[in-house]
Amino acid sequence: MATRFKLIFAISLLLRLLVFCRGSTIGVCYGRNADDLPTPDKVVQLVQQHNIKYLRIYDSNIQVLKAFANTGIELMIGISNYDLLPFSQFQSNADTWLKNSILPYYPATRITYITVGAEVTESPNNASAMVVPAMQNVLTALKKIGLHKKIKVSTTHSLGVLSRSFPPSAGAFNSSHASFLKPLLEFLAENQSPFMIDIYPYYAYRDSLTNVSLDYALFKSSSEVIDPNTGLLYTNMFDAQIDALYFALMALNFRTIKIMVTETGWPSKGSPKETAATADNAQTYNTNLIRHVINNSGTPAKPEEELDVYIFSLFNENRKPGLASERNWGLFYPDQTSVYNLDFTGRGVVDVPTNASGTTFNGTSWCIASSNASQLDLQSALDWACGSGNVDCSPIQPSQPCFEPDTLLSHASYAFNCYYQQNGATDIACSFGGAGVKVDKDPSYDKCLYMTAGTNKTAARNMTASATTSSSTENKVFSWFINSFLCVTLVSYILGTGNVK
Ligand SMILES: *[C@@H]1O[C@H](CO)[C@@H](O)[C@H](O)[C@H]1NC(C)=O
Ligand SMILES: *[C@@H]1O[C@H](CO)[C@@H](O)[C@H](O)[C@H]1NC(C)=O
Ligand SMILES: *[C@@H]1O[C@H](CO)[C@@H](O)[C@H](O)[C@H]1NC(C)=O
Ligand SMILES: *[C@@H]1O[C@H](CO)[C@@H](O)[C@H](O)[C@H]1NC(C)=O
Ligand SMILES: *[C@@H]1O[C@H](CO)[C@@H](O)[C@H](O)[C@H]1NC(C)=O
Ligand SMILES: *[C@@H]1O[C@H](CO)[C@@H](O)[C@H](O)[C@H]1NC(C)=O
Ligand SMILES: *[C@@H]1O[C@H](CO)[C@@H](O)[C@H](O)[C@H]1NC(C)=O
Ligand SMILES: *[C@@H]1O[C@H](CO)[C@@H](O)[C@H](O)[C@H]1NC(C)=O
Ligand SMILES: *[C@@H]1O[C@H](CO)[C@@H](O)[C@H](O)[C@H]1NC(C)=O
Repeated sequence: MATRFKLIFAISLLLRLLVFCRGSTIGVCYGRNADDLPTPDKVVQLVQQHNIKYLRIYDSNIQVLKAFANTGIELMIGISNYDLLPFSQFQSNADTWLKNSILPYYPATRITYITVGAEVTESPNNASAMVVPAMQNVLTALKKIGLHKKIKVSTTHSLGVLSRSFPPSAGAFNSSHASFLKPLLEFLAENQSPFMIDIYPYYAYRDSLTNVSLDYALFKSSSEVIDPNTGLLYTNMFDAQIDALYFALMALNFRTIKIMVTETGWPSKGSPKETAATADNAQTYNTNLIRHVINNSGTPAKPEEELDVYIFSLFNENRKPGLASERNWGLFYPDQTSVYNLDFTGRGVVDVPTNASGTTFNGTSWCIASSNASQLDLQSALDWACGSGNVDCSPIQPSQPCFEPDTLLSHASYAFNCYYQQNGATDIACSFGGAGVKVDKDPSYDKCLYMTAGTNKTAARNMTASATTSSSTENKVFSWFINSFLCVTLVSYILGTGNVK
């Protein structure tokens, strides 16, 4: 009896741990606005072949729900904007839909999310007014059959819900959507549902060729963009856009709502003017995206925060209106051949970020002068660094950004760090006869930017940064290691316990 109890306890703990160990996930959007797509049964095989575990569909098509039964693949299903009116008007409509269209296929088909309306703020018919009432009715219907914890209810947004997204710390919702957003955010917070956002660095790049670099949009940037309010470094636009949303949520004091990216991607082909829409760029974006997400590194404002992301889209969709790129977001052609190779596990052959500055970004620690060192030691180490040490000490000259505060400690810190970063960031490069100490917080302040190993000096010199902490990659690696280690150890311990009898 005791053993059996122990076993049950162990299994339930194991399940909880598996959830805990799950990490960020990558899914794919299965849009079907086309007349030449394979049947859902064939799509199941394709999805399984490529190891795709999460799929988003935009409706609750019965053929699709049936096809994915017993595959273990998790589905996000949707209620379209056209159907919002009946769902918002009567509870019975939501009850009936759930009973007739979902329950017959559940739980064989693993449905985990229902999106009620999509990007409604872009929709002309005042759809946003109906979203929350419809979500509420769908939730009530789920509650009646006890599925509200297993199937989460939310709705998707375009980045257009924000009126400001740069710098990320200034992220703010467009106040003309306030009457829609307030009850929506309360709903999400109360029900622990994610805020779903569709994010397209491609459009940001295409529509603003002068201000946005392609490398930044493709996760290939060798220099960083610094948020002047927080000092956080951004190496890609994806993170910057997500953090803009985090800051917008925080500004309204919704700190617990998680973000989920329900669409992102890159088109492989476009009209002659859409020069960035190439298969190479699409492969680079999606490969780097997968690697970035699977890595669980989070965003600069929320390091280590899990982020589930869906790539748009599974197939090229020939019936989509608009520019040529609209019909070329697919990872696969309708004949199921790949438009370009993509490894969904994030571990295969991938593009190495470009190496324009000669070193990859490795900015994990800084070296400053120890407050315990004597003035004499500091002065001679400073003289040495600016002389034989080959450090460019012009920023600590009068009227330059790092002159103030005009103290030996501050000037030595700046010079020590330059020397340290230029010389491989090794412990030895920070010794200075004991006058140097390594720190994992960015010592930059105001316009005085402390370099890191990968900093492009020209790009960094005239960017501003105030003194704030920037999270240390070393710490992240460490805590990631500890977390994984704990997970693995606990899981194997429990499995061991479970096997006793
Ligand atoms: C849109 O919805 C709001 C709030 O329900 C309502 O006041 C307004 O009249 C609606 N506008 C249209 C054009 O239906
Ligand atoms: C806010 O939304 C309104 C209505 O959709 C739109 O007209 C306006 O341009 C938006 N403002 C900003 C700053 O995006
Ligand atoms: C692009 O940069 C110019 C000059 O810095 C600025 O005036 C403009 O607002 C920027 N455009 C966008 C879309 O950020
Ligand atoms: C993965 O995470 C580690 C530690 O956080 C970091 O050093 C590495 O650069 C990350 N790789 C990518 C591709 O983001
Ligand atoms: C640094 O960045 C600037 C502007 O982005 C670029 O022009 C320059 O070539 C870069 N320098 C190096 C060494 O990468
Ligand atoms: C980065 O640049 C250095 C120096 O130019 C070079 O030795 C190294 O091979 C490059 N690394 C990559 C990954 O391109
Ligand atoms: C990154 O830092 C580690 C540890 O300080 C060092 O071994 C490695 O050579 C560095 N890599 C680059 C490219 O600077
Ligand atoms: C200064 O010395 C104290 C006592 O020896 C030590 O605890 C502290 O860490 C030192 N501070 C620095 C910046 O080296
Ligand atoms: C940044 O510095 C470079 C080189 O010093 C200069 O050419 C450029 O105009 C500066 N850019 C800004 C935005 O200050």
